[in-house]
Amino acid sequence: MAKKPTTRFICSNCQAISLKWAGRCETCGDWNTLTEHVSQASPRKTASVLPGSAHSHKGRLATTRLDGATKPPPRVNTGLDELNRVLGSGLVPGSAVLVGGDPGIGKSTLMLQTTCALAQAGHDVLYVSGEEAIDQIRLRAQRLDLTKNKKALDKLELAASINVADIVATLEERVQSAAVASQPEGVEAPAVPAVVVIDSIQTMWLDGVDSAPGSVSQVRACAFELIRLAKTLGFALVLIGHVTKEGALAGPRVLEHMVDAVLYFEGDRGHQFRILRAAKNRFGATDEIGVFAMTDTGLEEVPNPSALFLAERRGNVAGSAVFAGLEGTRPVLLEIQVLLAPKAGDGSARRSVLGWEGSRLNMVLAVLESRCGLKLSNMDVYLNVTGGLRISETAADLAVAAALISAATGRPTAPSEAYFGEIGLSGEIRPVPQTGLRLKEIAKLGFSRARLPRQLNSASGKAKPPATLTVEDIGHLSDLVARF
Ligand code: TYD
Ligand code: MG
Repeated sequence: MAKKPTTRFICSNCQAISLKWAGRCETCGDWNTLTEHVSQASPRKTASVLPGSAHSHKGRLATTRLDGATKPPPRVNTGLDELNRVLGSGLVPGSAVLVGGDPGIGKSTLMLQTTCALAQAGHDVLYVSGEEAIDQIRLRAQRLDLTKNKKALDKLELAASINVADIVATLEERVQSAAVASQPEGVEAPAVPAVVVIDSIQTMWLDGVDSAPGSVSQVRACAFELIRLAKTLGFALVLIGHVTKEGALAGPRVLEHMVDAVLYFEGDRGHQFRILRAAKNRFGATDEIGVFAMTDTGLEEVPNPSALFLAERRGNVAGSAVFAGLEGTRPVLLEIQVLLAPKAGDGSARRSVLGWEGSRLNMVLAVLESRCGLKLSNMDVYLNVTGGLRISETAADLAVAAALISAATGRPTAPSEAYFGEIGLSGEIRPVPQTGLRLKEIAKLGFSRARLPRQLNSASGKAKPPATLTVEDIGHLSDLVARF
């Protein structure tokens, strides 16, 4: 029996497929980009089967029980603790990770260092660069002092190529030759690597796709091919991708759906700090961050970021307060800075916020004004979280309020005190999670006072403050205003 032709509408901009025609593509939002494609192929034929999935009878679905025996996925330790932390304790064989970030932020440096660390630990690795020539990569490796361990370098293969078909053929051939012929004595057959790094996916090119490297259809097709290879051969694939000006990875979010984890490497190029953050992770949490410092000799891991974030802090300046925050499971101290300036002109006052939510700042300002009588509506407010970090916790409310009160009164907060706590609309200070961890970090960095919500003495709050720390419970925002 002849198969019924299927009609699909494909967006010429992002290649998204939809069943219905629409004037606007739902995926990328572009107008008039959907075109009709009629295909004879039955969808069943094209559907790919993931390795490890339950399939036995052709054309029948094999279902299984939820409580069957399973093991956690094996992990390849990358040798970099900060990277392992963000990945969820290492790379998973057969998975694909996208490392995105602005050009020049340090993605190639990070992955070259990782590649060398992996080789040092005995893993076979392949680094394919479509961006730089071999000489450039060698020079960088020398500068990073990565070329000393010759034995480890035996494990690392380097290639300059943009041709995905070549990469696929090379690796598939290795599997076949390993299965068929034994090598002549003394000659070791090149192994299928445990990890393959592609720098970058935008430079890759697949024959048969009718568009330039970096275009959405090339990026998508190349990534698809490489991911398929990673799944069949069982290596961990790392794709490096540049973020475009609009903040999206080229191929608007196309790759995010295809890979198992998306990590963003962020930071201000004028600053040393680089933060690795997971935006998606099928094998771990997405709230962990990895902190690095870019130095003359490459990226250094920063296991204790608080000290670094506070390093440039100047005491005795009004408008600054230290916040004890949490990034994933790790407590991090940060400085919150506020600048107030009389409003210019007749319009509404400016609210400029970097590293926090603008709506949250407006709420704190409104509570300060209506519950504590601190009038700031005729002032422009600039708020900045130093170190380029983005805070998403409501626990920062109290520190923001302290910085605002300090700026408004011109009285600095004490250099040895730190803040955390959420502010409610009636001005009450509400408890936040992980009091104990935050207090420990505050004490560890040599601070002597913490101002926080009232919870330590309640039955539920069991956190015992470190002995060196004076703990001040703040019940209401007006209590805080009264201390300035
Ligand atoms: P790179 O890894 O090439 O960035 P990306 O791959 O994300 O485009 O990093 C380039 C920047 O990093 C460059 O501006 C110089 C700086 N850098 C250092 O400061 N120290 C170093 O040791 C290296 C290798 C680079
Ligand atoms: Mg690069």
